[in-house]
Amino acid sequence: MSLALAVLVSGSGSNLQSIIDKVEAGALDADIRVVLSNKPDAYGLTRARTHGIPAVCLDHKRFDGREAFDAEMVRVIREHGADAVAMAGFMRMVTPVFLGAFPGRVVNIHPALLPSFPGVHGQADAAAYGVRFSGCTVHFVDEKMDHGPVIIQAVVPAYPEDDGDTLGARILAMEHRIYPQALQWLAEGRLRHAGRKVVVEGCGPCVALTGAGMVNPPLEPGF
Ligand code: GRF
Repeated sequence: MSLALAVLVSGSGSNLQSIIDKVEAGALDADIRVVLSNKPDAYGLTRARTHGIPAVCLDHKRFDGREAFDAEMVRVIREHGADAVAMAGFMRMVTPVFLGAFPGRVVNIHPALLPSFPGVHGQADAAAYGVRFSGCTVHFVDEKMDHGPVIIQAVVPAYPEDDGDTLGARILAMEHRIYPQALQWLAEGRLRHAGRKVVVEGCGPCVALTGAGMVNPPLEPGF
């Protein structure tokens, strides 16, 4: 059954675009019911409308607290018939009001190898630290920031001359590969929780070496 998906954005929405592209290519079995932004000028809203996807802005500043904002997001998402949520550059923490509405069905992408470099400057923090590898993580969302169980990670090299922008660009290319793949596993019902660990049913114990990085579990055809 197709994944009835809501995508939350706050900015450019390039991850949203990668999800749209995989849906349109037939690789990702999802129906993007609505794109929500907390920022009126988020380009992700324009991307959605360009592809005929309902786009809704809820300015968080107009709400009296996080719970009230989350309750309205839940209402809008349900109104559009979505029951799974992909946070894609959504710069807000969500509360139990939100997580309780879609249990086990809220995922996020973070531009670092969690648990290293959580927070809003993951790429710049990793570059400044001088790591030799960084990457990106798709994980289930829980109440702590950038914390929930990991679904898939991709590793890219980092170099002394990198800053947040150059390392971030290398990471972003891999974000666009792993996020649609993780969502396809969610659509197929292949993600099984084992405590903090996530088992992807049918994935062997191996990694994939792509041109740009290393991915675990490996990407499947189409991703
Ligand atoms: C990505 O790096 C994502 O990992 C982070 O915010 C950025 C959003 O980029 N959470 P975009 O809006 O998808 O282009």
